[in-house]
Amino acid sequence: MQIEKTVEGVRAQVRAWRKEGLRIGLVPTMGYLHEGHQSLIDRAVKENDRVVVSVFVNPIQFGPTEDLDTYPRDFEADCILCEKAGAALVFAPEVSEMYVEDFSTFVDTSKVTEELCGKSRPTHFRGVCTVVNKLFHIAAPDRAYFGQKDAQQLAVVRRMVRDLNMDIEIIGCPIIREKDGLAKSSRNAYLSPEERKAALVLSKAIFTGKAMVEEGEKDGEKVLETMQNIIQAEPLARIDYVEMVKWDTIEPHHQIDCPILVAIAVYIGKTRLIDNFLSH
Ligand code: PAF
Repeated sequence: MQIEKTVEGVRAQVRAWRKEGLRIGLVPTMGYLHEGHQSLIDRAVKENDRVVVSVFVNPIQFGPTEDLDTYPRDFEADCILCEKAGAALVFAPEVSEMYVEDFSTFVDTSKVTEELCGKSRPTHFRGVCTVVNKLFHIAAPDRAYFGQKDAQQLAVVRRMVRDLNMDIEIIGCPIIREKDGLAKSSRNAYLSPEERKAALVLSKAIFTGKAMVEEGEKDGEKVLETMQNIIQAEPLARIDYVEMVKWDTIEPHHQIDCPILVAIAVYIGKTRLIDNFLSH
């Protein structure tokens, strides 16, 4: 497996693969890889001839009071996981390689970024869209893989690709959970043992809401209220949002009469965790 730190290094390899007619899959990540990322790489390896994994903690998607400086990193372990999973290349640039000193071009996707995480993290998706755009230009993939756990991110990237006529297939992959239900996340590493137990309130709320919808509940308010009550019963939990939106447009919608996304963001102590379910 090749490790590249420069844009030019990736481009040279991608050009060579393209000359051979090989199909390229891209898995964009911020590193500290877990089984959730691995499931994306596994799928990409199955569906493409070569897989590029980017490992880059993108500073411009973090707000000024967020966890950029403490974001967990373990590049050696990431490379081992990528190699075992069958990735052909890991792209791990320095910040200066991705953002020249007077960098001044951003990709801003509106509407689908107005609710949920876009509301509490107002500059987040501009940072995500900008870096994903750059990664798409650098790795020129046929397909790119994103986890359903970041459901709004998936919707935003799909919208950007549609609106900007990018010839890239966006593949959403299911949420991977710990045995006890907690959605896998690099940020789970922040949780103390007591907080780790409290964090189960997220999956508990998600599973309960999902069961209500599957049993035929059509009133979104009832589902959201039940979920809120579950979360509020946990003293270490503080709700950022518990919301139901239309899956394609991310507009609030409290009737279960179309494909919906039910998404939550909850602080457990200082750690902000997200989870969701889709109903079609
Ligand atoms: O989901 C993530 O890890 C990041 O938002 C992404 C897509 C790699 C962009 O930095």
